[in-house]
Amino acid sequence: MGLKPVKVGICGLGTVGGGTFNVLKRNESEITRRAGRVIRVEQIGARRPNPNCETNGVQITDDIFAVAKNPEVDIVVELIGGYETALELVLTAIEHGKHVVTANKALIAEHGNEIFEAAQRKNVMVAFEASVAGGIPIIKAIREGLAANSINWLAGIINGTGNFILTEMRDKGRAFGDVLKEAQELGYAEADPTFDVEGIDAAHKLTILASLAYGVPLQFNKAYTEGISEITTEDVNYAEELGYRIKHLGVSRRTEDGIELRVHPTLIPEKRLIANVDGVMNAVLVDADAVGPTLYYGAGAGSEPTASAVIADLVDVVRAMTADRDNRVPHLAFHPSHMSDLPILPMEEIRTAYYLRLNAIDHPGVLAEVTSILSAQQISIDSILQKGTGEELVPIIILTHEVQEKQMNQAIKQIEALEDIQGAVTRIRVEQLDAN
Ligand code: HSE
Repeated sequence: MGLKPVKVGICGLGTVGGGTFNVLKRNESEITRRAGRVIRVEQIGARRPNPNCETNGVQITDDIFAVAKNPEVDIVVELIGGYETALELVLTAIEHGKHVVTANKALIAEHGNEIFEAAQRKNVMVAFEASVAGGIPIIKAIREGLAANSINWLAGIINGTGNFILTEMRDKGRAFGDVLKEAQELGYAEADPTFDVEGIDAAHKLTILASLAYGVPLQFNKAYTEGISEITTEDVNYAEELGYRIKHLGVSRRTEDGIELRVHPTLIPEKRLIANVDGVMNAVLVDADAVGPTLYYGAGAGSEPTASAVIADLVDVVRAMTADRDNRVPHLAFHPSHMSDLPILPMEEIRTAYYLRLNAIDHPGVLAEVTSILSAQQISIDSILQKGTGEELVPIIILTHEVQEKQMNQAIKQIEALEDIQGAVTRIRVEQLDAN
């Protein structure tokens, strides 16, 4: 290849950085044939070596900012994770005229608007395929592959740790805390595992996907986030009996009034392909007007799957280096001057169906009281399951049709106030995920 090599500086040589280095080296010849130029690692910024990487001959520094400022480096790959330092690093790299590739979902979801503006000003690219669903090329699919479509909604299993926990609870009846411990030992979990189980990691990724789908600015602070730590094996089993699986889903739907942006445990019909995505795997289902539903499945975390996305970005950046900013694929899929101001809906305004589990004192008339509260709130019941346990307290499981969250909140408050209902009502949202 006649063109001179493109020089890359990798910041962070942990799980993803190490995988990126190794795959670049192993597949150098095929990557060069695709990019049209050699992609060479010029410098690595890392606090410590990675025993899985043979880095002989590559400059290594423990000063990542030296990489961001190195005049020899064309593209800075940010794989250190976290917020403040990563933001400073990326802005420094942009300021020095470098293109940036990052896998950092928290950084993009929370500071992406500012980063993309800085990049546009400096006429450089910031690529972030690895930030959502690891190795699945979901950003490319939405941003480029679905460019003809008006996207109606998307729903994704976008946190491998959470999905692993729910799968183990269902398949093996294991307790939540026990499975989380294993996920941490296996290295799937975030540094702070509450990010996985409380849905923050998934909300970061969903925020990015929604912006790409609808062309709205990134608004992580408006995402509704509910974790899986309250899910019990009891609910997993009742869901199964009703023909559903519980998945920790990120859902974003475009309505006339605004965009739904929510992460929460969700019952989905077991016959849907996405309901059968198990373990640490990720999947994103997108419903778009022209193509209909499309499903993207694969490894959402891990060293080489994430490296696969990082390197695809490197190849894209190399191919578009000579184009000016108006002729590149826009960071958020739509041209910055054509972004939509459709608001993100508050959670009270969203519409969905519900699974409710209540503990009732077993005597006549309780069910009638509950159903009359639901009917007063215009909530229509899809099915009811009442379990005779022989105990004084019996569980009642109700599936409802779609209703506004605000009305369901009212109904739950009134049901919890009934004398014959003990404790809190368990509420899990239900999505059919069928095409419009
Ligand atoms: N902790 C994340 C997960 C890693 O479990 O999916 C990938 O972003």
